[in-house]
Formats: sequence, C-alpha cells, structure tokens
Amino acid sequence: MYVAGCDVGSLSAKAVIMKDGDVLASHVIFAKPEPEESAREVMGKALEKAGLTMKDIAYCVGTGYGRDSIGFADAVESEIVCHGKAAQWLMPEVHMVIDIGGQDAKAIRLDDTGTVIRFAYNDRCASGTGRFLEVMAGAMDIRLEDMGDISLSATNPLSISNQCVVFAETEIISLINAGKNLADIVGGLHKSLAHRVAALARGIELDHEITMTGGVAKNAGMFAALEEALGVKLSKMETDPQIIGALGAALIARRAAEKDG
Ligand SMILES: Nc1ncnc2c1ncn2[C@@H]1O[C@H](COP(=O)(O)OP(=O)(O)O)[C@@H](O)[C@H]1O
Ligand SMILES: [Mg+2]
Repeated sequence: MYVAGCDVGSLSAKAVIMKDGDVLASHVIFAKPEPEESAREVMGKALEKAGLTMKDIAYCVGTGYGRDSIGFADAVESEIVCHGKAAQWLMPEVHMVIDIGGQDAKAIRLDDTGTVIRFAYNDRCASGTGRFLEVMAGAMDIRLEDMGDISLSATNPLSISNQCVVFAETEIISLINAGKNLADIVGGLHKSLAHRVAALARGIELDHEITMTGGVAKNAGMFAALEEALGVKLSKMETDPQIIGALGAALIARRAAEKDG
C-alpha cells in the first residue's frame, strides 16, 4: 500500500511517499507563489521518482502553512504533530523536537507515544527563523549553503547587538566595512539565532533527547550553535531534516489508510 505526505511551507514544499512503512521517494522544491501549485509540483516530482501516479496513493495527508490549499489531500494535520511523529518514528529516544523553518521556529515536547504534550512557537518575527540567515547571506553575498561551514571556522564569534533583521543587516555591513573577520561575523549571527531559539525551547522546559528538524537543521553551524546555546548534545538524524513534516504526514496517512482498509 502506498501513502503520501505533503508539507507546503513558507519557503519550500516537501513530499514523501511511503510503501508499507518504508520511505519510497521524497522531493523538495522552493515554494511557488500559489501553495496549490507548490503542492501539485512537489507531489508530481515525488510520484515520478517512485514511478507512481496519484491514483496509486491510498491516502494523503497535507501539512504546513499551505495545507488547506492541497487539493489532493484526504486530510490535514498540524506541522507540530507531523514533526513530532516523524522525529520519534526515526529516533524513538527523542522527546523534544526543535523545528526551524523559513518563517517560524517551534519547540515540541513529546511523550513516549509521540504525542505532543507541550509546544511553543515563534512566527511573529523573522529574527528567530531561517529567514534571518537568508537575509544575512544576501547582505554578505555568500551562499546560504556555505554559511554553516563558514561559521564553524569562527575562532571568536562576534556579539551581534541587534535582534531585528533590518538593524542586524546594517550592523553586519558595518562590521564587514570595519574589516572584521567574516567567519567571526557569521559565527556571531548563528550564535544570536541559536540563543533566540534556545529561549523558545527553554520556555517549555528542555526534555531529554532533543533533535532538530526543518531546513535550518541542514546547516551544520546552526546545529552546533544550538547545541552550545542549549548546553545539550542534539540527536542527529540521517534522514534529510527538511522532509520531516512531510514524513510525519505520510505516517499519519498510513495509520488512516490502515483504519479505512
Ligand atoms: N541547503 C541548505 N543549507 C543551509 N540552510 C538551508 C538549506 N536549505 C534550506 N535552508 C534553511 O532552511 C530554511 C527553510 O526551511 P524549511 O523547513 O524548508 O522552511 P518551511 O517549512 O518554512 O518552508 C531557510 O530559511 C534556510 O535558512
Ligand atoms: Mg516547515
């Protein structure tokens, strides 16, 4: 039996196809202006990889901020539930998930069954999200994908005094013009984002075994900065952390399809 999960986020859209409890295919694209178009395209690409068509999918669950625009979804579920489900499915020891996406950050605590017991999120201000790093990469003319490695080579991460993305952008341009070391500037940016996300997580109390999901978890510098800010070693997943919401949606779809059948 084939099931699917589709996560239409603010920056990217993700799709996962599962066959009998195994991941068969996944795909990630940059979000299109219309969430419906993102959903159709990303699912089409994942189906193509799996050699299937939508008719083969017994059940599909949609999630993400654009979840209500996924025409082919049989049901929708919140991203919080989906990230929690998939993270614990991959790593049963995990009891806390920190998801940092393009436009929000979430801290989620789970019980032993993968059920959400507490959560906190910030979607009000870009300074605590992946968008912060995107804007800074643009201002420094470096690739987002390179930021993590650059930050890991910092020997003395600078303290960035402005939280606001707009002011922080001006601040780093001044630091560059003052001839400060690029790695130390980038290291400082990662440290400041990590502290904001760590404060969000501490607000619901840290649990044992924490993992990081969302596109920002692909950034090794951010992973390390968050470990330092939390004072905890994070569990690292082998699966692409960006597809975790879609994977959780597919797991929920599997449950629903089994019940239906
Ligand atoms: N290859 C990459 N390297 C580093 N960071 C990345 C990479 N791809 C995405 N990101 C980060 O992930 C964020 C988007 O995360 P994602 O989970 O896809 O967001 P959403 O679910 O809100 O669409 C971007 O803001 C960016 O900071
Ligand atoms: Mg997301």
